[in-house]
Amino acid sequence: MNIRNTDTSWGLVSILFHWIMAVLFLGQFWLGWYMQGVKNLLDQYYLYQWHKSFGFLIFGLAVLRALWAITSRRPRLPDEMPAGEKTLARGTHAVLYLLLVILPLTGWSIVSTSPLPIATRFFGLFVIPSLPLGISMHSEQVWSSLHGFLAYAAIFLVGVHVLAALRHHFKTKDDILIRMIWPRRR
Ligand code: HEM
Ligand code: HEM
Repeated sequence: MNIRNTDTSWGLVSILFHWIMAVLFLGQFWLGWYMQGVKNLLDQYYLYQWHKSFGFLIFGLAVLRALWAITSRRPRLPDEMPAGEKTLARGTHAVLYLLLVILPLTGWSIVSTSPLPIATRFFGLFVIPSLPLGISMHSEQVWSSLHGFLAYAAIFLVGVHVLAALRHHFKTKDDILIRMIWPRRR
């Protein structure tokens, strides 16, 4: 089984990164949306702690994944794919990578600028310090709006990304989806 990517296939590391982070991202989006409507303050506190902890986990994984991607070969897209579509696919992937790093940073900025001094406990293990940003309700609101906007932009892009993957599988009938599911044998 290929651990690293080749010219035509994704290796095990890239595949694991992709699917683990896809699940984490979708769960994290749902949690961010859901937690805000919870009325019980204690429940809300714990849901926010989960959201912040998973957000930092995604951040750490995104940095490792980006380093892995930069130092790895990228499988070629099919020759018959139009050049414009290839650029669009690569552009979408690059923006998704960026969002996986920037979204947690904007979340971190919300809690760092909030006048409510609630510590962020990473899965209850240790406290994550605040970023050195000025504390004010106005800044918190700005970061919160940006975080929400980027999260909804990201889920929209993911929707386009999933539709494109399904189109490759069912309409174009190439191996784009399959090669992201199984690493090719050596
Ligand atoms: C990829 C990672 C993340 C995703 C996909 C994500 C997604 C979301 C979403 C969808 C919302 C609801 C937005 C709305 O309906 O207006 C939200 C809210 C929030 N997120 Fe995140 N988030 C991420 C990381 C983080 C991190 C790392 C933190 C903090 C350390 C954080 C802190 C918050 C806070 C405090 C809110 C509530 C904002 C408010 O009160 O208006 N998020 N997030
Ligand atoms: C849940 C359904 C999803 C499906 C069916 C799916 C499908 C795929 C496929 C087939 C590829 C390979 C494209 C190629 O060979 O060039 C791919 C790559 C990629 N996907 Fe997804 N994806 C999903 C979710 C996500 C999510 C939630 C994210 C991030 C938020 C994401 C980010 C990426 C990135 C960055 C790449 C580029 C490859 C890499 O460097 O790892 N995907 N996806």
